[in-house]
This record gives sequence, C-alpha cells and structure tokens, in this order.
Amino acid sequence: MMIQSRCKFKLKRIRNALNRIIYSCLTYSTLIIGLFLISHRNVSAFEPDFVFPLENVTVAQGRDAVFTCVVNNLGGYRVSGSGSETGTPARVRISFVAWIKADAKAILAIHEHVITNNGRLSVTHNDYNTWTLNIRNVKMEDRGQYMCQVNTDPMKMQTAFLEVVIPPDIIYEETSGDMMVPEGGSAKLVCKSRGFPKPKITWKREDGREIIARNGPHGKTKSLNVEGEVLSLTKITRSEMGAYLCIASNGVPPSVSKRMKLQVHFHPLIQVPNQLVGAPLLTDVTLICNVEASPKAINYWQRENGEMIITNDRYLMTETENSMYAVQMTLVVRKLQKSDMGGYKCISKNSIGDAEGTIRLYEMELSKKKTNRYNNYDDISGANDEDNEAIRSEDQNDDSLFGTNGRLYKGLQGGDTNLINKASTCHVVILISISSTSFSFIISKILSNVL
Ligand SMILES: *[C@@H]1O[C@H](CO)[C@@H](O)[C@H](O)[C@H]1NC(C)=O
Repeated sequence: MMIQSRCKFKLKRIRNALNRIIYSCLTYSTLIIGLFLISHRNVSAFEPDFVFPLENVTVAQGRDAVFTCVVNNLGGYRVSGSGSETGTPARVRISFVAWIKADAKAILAIHEHVITNNGRLSVTHNDYNTWTLNIRNVKMEDRGQYMCQVNTDPMKMQTAFLEVVIPPDIIYEETSGDMMVPEGGSAKLVCKSRGFPKPKITWKREDGREIIARNGPHGKTKSLNVEGEVLSLTKITRSEMGAYLCIASNGVPPSVSKRMKLQVHFHPLIQVPNQLVGAPLLTDVTLICNVEASPKAINYWQRENGEMIITNDRYLMTETENSMYAVQMTLVVRKLQKSDMGGYKCISKNSIGDAEGTIRLYEMELSKKKTNRYNNYDDISGANDEDNEAIRSEDQNDDSLFGTNGRLYKGLQGGDTNLINKASTCHVVILISISSTSFSFIISKILSNVL
C-alpha cells in the first residue's frame, strides 16, 4: 500500500516536471523563432546599446511600478566578418532584452514573454527601442535590484533598484486614547505606528502651545514638537490640559495623526475681581466671578441668606468660557433697589469639590456726589466754608477708595460711570458757558453805558 502510493506520488511529480519542460520548450522555441524572424527583418551593423540608464523606482505598496529600458539597434547585428568585403558570410547574432531580478538571480522575462510565475508582471514593447517591465500591485517582496540585459557578447546590462514604501499608519490597539489625570499627576501617552521606512512620531499640542517635559535629561524643557513613541508628562498642571496630536510620518504621503485629549482634574477655584461693588440706585450693576474647574462645574449665584438667584427680568446671568477650564460668571442686577444691597455668593461645584466667592453690593449715593461737584466748580471765590471742606474730603475718600482699590471702581459698570461723569461735566460746561455769556453781556452792557 505504502509503496504503491509513494510510486503514484513519484509518477505524478515526474509527469508534472515533464509537462513543465515541454511547456518551456514550446515557449522558448516560439520565442527563438519569433526573435529570429524579427532580427532578420532589421539587421543592423551596430551592436545594441542602452540609450538611458535604468532609473531607480520608488513606489508605495499596492501601486504599480514601471522600469523602462531603452535599447538602440536591437534585433540582429552582424558579429563576424564584414560582409561582402572579405568574402566570409556575415554571421547574424540575434539579440533581445531580458529582465532579471538580480538579487534573486531569477529571469523574469525574455522579449515580451514573462517567464516567472508572477501574474502581476508584464513586459511591453513600443515596437521601436523601448521596453518596459510593469509590476502591478507592488508587494514588499518585489523590492530589490532589477536588471535589463541584452545578450550581446559580452552581455550588456543595467540595473536599478525598486524601493517599495508603505505610508504610515497608526496601530490604534497599541496607541493611547483620551486620558484623565489629577493635577500634579503624570501621564504617559503612547503612539505606535507601522509603515516602511519606519515612521517617525512627533507630538504637538492642538492649541499650538508648548509641551513641557519635566523629566528630561536637561530638567524642565519646553518645545512645540516632541519626538518619540512615548510622551511622558509629569507634575501636570491645568495649563497642560487639552488635545495632543501624535503624527506619524516617514516621507511617504499621507502622514497620519491621532488626537488624544488630556483632561486634568482639580478642585474648583473662584477668584473675585471686585469683592466690594458700589452702585447708585436704579442703575444696572454687574457682578463677576472667575471660576477654574475641571471637570466642568455647575456654577450658580445665591444671595447671602442662601436664596438661589434665578434668571428673570431683574437678574441676568451669563457664563463665558475663557479656556477649557476657565469660566467667567456674571450676574447683572437691573434697576438696583435698596433690597438688592448686601451679599452675593457665586458657587462652583464639580465632582471633586466646590468653591464659593462673595461680593458685597452697597448703595453709592449719586445725588450727593453731583451736588458737591457743582459746589467745587462754582465756588471759584475760594470761600471755603466748613460744609464744602467736609464734602471735599469725603469726595477724596471716595476717590482714594476707587484709586487704591481699583477693583471696586471696576465693579460699577463702565458705561454707567462714564455716563455719570459725562453728565456732570456737561452741567459744568453749561454753567461755565452761561456764566461766561452773562459775563460778556455785563461787559458789553458796561461798555455800551460808558460809550
Ligand atoms: C539606486 O538605488 C541604489 C540602492 O538604493 C543606490 O545605491 C543607487 O545610488 C541609486 N541610483 C540612483 C541613480 O539613484
């Protein structure tokens, strides 16, 4: 049984080999006959020669590659004697182009016949002097040295290199995703890629800010781009929060990138620019709190008695995002009433904790200020009665309060103060102009009387 099956196997192999030999014989004989016919059609006196060097080809895997070999005087040429002169008959040598994979020492094609068992190869001839070897859907194994050879004696050949490249790709399974770290903690962002040549990884921040490396060989360094598969961030601060991009590039377009968000968690923090805000009755006032929180916090306002403030026709609350973690809370109180004076709280709560800021709103007496301004300007005579002095010093107090503690001044809405200032200046100007008109009137009266 065993011997029989082995015999069968051997027979099958022999039959296959015979088939192959017969097939090649047929191919070669047709080839030779063909070449013979071609060569007799245009017998030349010159040896074939290359016109251009064979050029290196670089192609992305999956694309097509083409080698072009340009040979002049191909066909047949006379190799011995010089024809009728010496009387010896001229021998004609048939020449043809062969393509060889030099590193594998494999003949790929002779003339237009592909010999190798690779369906992706083909040879085309433009019927003149140009031979092209076409490799479709190039694979990594096609990379290497290719030779265009003409069978002169000695044979002539040229070689060129086929470089197969693979555009970069990111290996998502081995690459980091979005991350959350507490402030002060560390994060290791990893980006793995494939491609040929091996891609280079560059890290960038999406917002264009610098990446801070604190554990480098030179201590703390800042740079816009960091190279390497791993980006190590330590002692992370909130300003490092944001999207990071890893970009893989190897000179083969397109480059690819992956975006990963780094979220830094911390307790909310409230900063109040103006803790004491003075405003006249019936004006609108804006209270401001600056909040920093991550993850995002819920922010709201309360009166000091804990009463929640809700938006209605008297209160307008807005939130402006200044960065990924900074928000400005504003509360506009419209047409101030006596009952609006007092304490206000801005409160910010996130999953890590909460914070609050307080603002005290007090009534600023506008009417009193106005009158004392009139007094100051009107009283040019220099008659410093006590009352005036008192008002003036109060005024100064006010000013110094505003000056040294500019925050308080800012508490009053810019528009309103301007309005008040303009109004009073206007009055003064009118008064002065009135007095100057009356003065000139009096002068003219006097003059007319005199004349
Ligand atoms: C072709 O490629 C080979 C191998 O990469 C290199 O040594 C050679 O210098 C290249 N030739 C040209 C003309 O670029």
